[in-house]
This record gives sequence, C-alpha cells and structure tokens, in this order.
Amino acid sequence: MSGRLKGRLIGLGVTGSIAAYKAVELLRLLTAAGADVVVMLSPSATRFVGPLSFAALSRHPVETEVLDLLPDGRIGHIVIADSADAIVVAPATAHFLGAMANGLAGDVVTATCLASSAPVVVAPAMDGDMWTHPATVANAARLREFGYHVVPPGAGPLASGQSGTGRLAELPSIVDVVVAAVAGRAIRQADPAARPPLAADRPREADLVGRRMVGTAGGTREPIDPVRFIGNRSSGKMGVAVARAALDRGASVTLIAAAVEGAPPEGAHLVRVETTAELQAALRRDVIDADPPPDALVMAAAVADFTPLQPADEKIHRGVSLTLELVPTPDLLAEVAGTVNPPVAGADRRPPVLVGFAAETGGLERAAEKLRAKGVDLLVANDVAEAGSGFGTDTNRVVILDRAGAQEALPLLTKREVADRLLDRVARALDARDAAGQTEAMQESTKARGAEVHR
Ligand SMILES: Cc1cc2nc3c(=O)[nH]c(=O)nc-3n(C[C@H](O)[C@H](O)[C@H](O)COP(=O)(O)O)c2cc1C
Repeated sequence: MSGRLKGRLIGLGVTGSIAAYKAVELLRLLTAAGADVVVMLSPSATRFVGPLSFAALSRHPVETEVLDLLPDGRIGHIVIADSADAIVVAPATAHFLGAMANGLAGDVVTATCLASSAPVVVAPAMDGDMWTHPATVANAARLREFGYHVVPPGAGPLASGQSGTGRLAELPSIVDVVVAAVAGRAIRQADPAARPPLAADRPREADLVGRRMVGTAGGTREPIDPVRFIGNRSSGKMGVAVARAALDRGASVTLIAAAVEGAPPEGAHLVRVETTAELQAALRRDVIDADPPPDALVMAAAVADFTPLQPADEKIHRGVSLTLELVPTPDLLAEVAGTVNPPVAGADRRPPVLVGFAAETGGLERAAEKLRAKGVDLLVANDVAEAGSGFGTDTNRVVILDRAGAQEALPLLTKREVADRLLDRVARALDARDAAGQTEAMQESTKARGAEVHR
C-alpha cells in the first residue's frame, strides 16, 4: 500500500553481506511507501554494491565514510541520526550485530545508530552457523534489550551453498516492521534544510530513476467495418520519443501504443491498442485504478474525436453513396485528470504529473484554454500545419504551457530533444511534488499531535 511512510525520513544502513544487493529493492519499496530515504553503506558493503544505484534511487548522496563531512560542513551521520524517523539496517552482518551490541561506532552505519534516538530495525543475514553462534545470539538479544526491532532471518538456501537459517527476511515484511516502528510518532524533521542534503543537480541520465511513467503514442483507429477505419496522420514518433527518453533517464515506462510507425522502444512495457475505447480501458487499468499510480502520464497519442455509431459487422460493399453517423469519443485526458487530480480525499495517493499534447492548426490560442479546461499540469502545443512540425516528421516546434500560465516556446528541435526538454519539466515537477508531500505530512503530523495533547 502506498503512502504508509509518507513524509518520513528513513536511514537505510547496508552492511557487508552477500544479500546487500537486495537493499536496492528495499530502498525502492520504502520510497514507494512514500518515504524519503538516505542510504549509508559500511566500507565492506561498498565491496558488494556500489553507491550509484542507491544515490540515483534515493536522490541523496550515499554516506560511506564516517569521518567525511557533508559539503556544507555538517556531520553526515549526526544529521541522519537526528532527522531520521527510523533507521533500518538490512542486511545486517554478524559483525554489525557485534559492534552495535558493544557500542562500537567504527563506521557510518553503527555511528548513526549509536547517535540516534529513532527506532532501529535490524534485519540480519548471514551463514546459518554464524546466526546460531552463541556470540551472535547474545548480540541479537542485546540489541533487543536496546529496544531495536530485530527481524529474524528466514530459512532457505544460503550463499555458502548450504541451506539453513540466515536468509534476509522478505523485504515487504521488513517494510511492515518499519511502518509499525514509526506508527503514532510525529515526523521528527520535515524541514528539508535540516535533513540530509539532496544530490546536486542530477544528470538527465538518472533524474527519473525510480519513477514510473505511462505514455501514450500513435493514432487511434475507429472501425467503419472489418476492413476500414477512420484514422489520423499521427506517426506516434513523438510519444515513442518521450518513452525512449524516459527509459534512458531511468524511469520504468508503460507505453500504450495505438498505430505507431517503426519499432517501439526496447525496455518499455508495451500495451497495444487500436481504438479510443481500448485506449480508455488501458488508461483506466494502468493509471486510474493503478495502486500506486504512475508518477507521470504523458498523453501524446492522437485520439479520434469521433467514432462510427454502428460499425458494420460485414464489409460494406461499393454503392452509390455512404453516410456514416459519427458520435463523439470520450475525452480521455479530461477523464484521467478529473479522476486523479485532485486525488480522492483521504486516498493517500500522490497524483501523477499529467502532460497533454494539443495538435492545432493555425495558431496555438486554444491551447491555454485547453490546459485550464482539462486540468493538466503541462500541455505541449504544436501547430501541425507548420513546416517541420507535427505528423510524420522527426522534428517538432512546440510551446510548453504550464498551470501557472507560463509558456515556454522551444525552437525547432528533434522530437527526442523535445522529449528531453519536456521530461526536464516533469522531473522538476516530481521533485517539487515530493518536497510538498513532506511539508504536508509534517503539518498533518503536527496537527494530529496537537489534537492528542489537547485531549
Ligand atoms: C562473499 C562474502 C559474503 C559474505 N556474506 C556475509 C553475510 O551474509 N553476513 C555476514 O554477517 N557476513 C558476511 N560476510 C562477511 C562480512 O563481509 C565481514 O564480516 C565484514 O567484516 C562485515 O563488515 P560490516 O559489518 O562492517 O559491513 C561475507 C563475506 C564475503 C566475502
């Protein structure tokens, strides 16, 4: 369930176990639950996993050296110790248990735990004989005496090739223990300035790591009969370029593709649709009803505005004339925007950043009105009648409009560059959304504490 750790800062300590790679997925689960996570690696852990994935996923620099100061001169492990709502050490080695049991603060993980009054969750992982050694048993018992939550390892095959008890507990169960450990406690520090610093401007190659994007591309086709359809000139190149760029920047991408030219991007989860009705069903499944919802939805598909009222079951044969009755299709962008934005009260879902595309001919005046009417965050407007712009070309000249009323007119660019400029805006909007979520959670927590005090 998303949102269980909304606004919380969790310190994730990783020590030198073969299971250290699993901590990347644990980080992902914690962030999916709404937590802001800062990662600490023991020097041994850095031999098993590099800091890059952790840094990209957490958006914080990774702490690896207890003696290094933060760029602003603050002491990293003290900042984490004082601002984290909980510290979770997973996997925790036998060495970590022994050091902690004896109050030894030789690395950033142990030093942070020792310096903190936050709840500590420890998930050991080790060889079976190590886990049952009397020293380890005594160390784990000592940690429980401190009030630490020790999540016992499970049984199964171990790195040594043997079977036994020592496997890192299942990751969702570790998240559950973290959630229970912070339940009922006020958020300790919501001021981003007092929390660990965010990574300085992340490069485009990594600024969507950990984000989920749904994109639509191509033109829908509305059947007249089994062999004919009403279509449009969309090549799908713009939507495919957005999907490809998002993948290159680390996002996981679902591409809902109507009729598109060329190969879809490798690595995207591809959902093929033909009609507007199929596109609507895919959006309902992958966006409106998805839990958690995606972080961003970029609707670049050219959706039919009309569909035949009654498509013929059999091929219509040549005749003198043919009159088709067309009915309007549902406005999919408006439907998605109306459902997810604003989110249902109390649903604890972070609404996706919504991006619409508006292809117009003869000026872009209607686009601003469309943005307001549909309630999207960003609208990419292009005049498809202009040379080098619009259908089938590899270039585009667009104006990006935002909710604040600003318009950014881009020069004639390749569709890939347009996609990247657009995703720059999406990445910034997501970062701003996260920061706002922290402040909001802090306010809720303060209000709840106030109510408790006055009871
Ligand atoms: C391949 C390999 C796997 C290891 N796996 C574990 C493990 O799962 N659990 C453990 O307690 N120690 C394990 N160790 C030993 C630790 O890495 C070692 O005790 C180290 O000093 C732990 O340091 P740290 O607790 O500061 O990270 C492993 C060592 C190697 C070489």
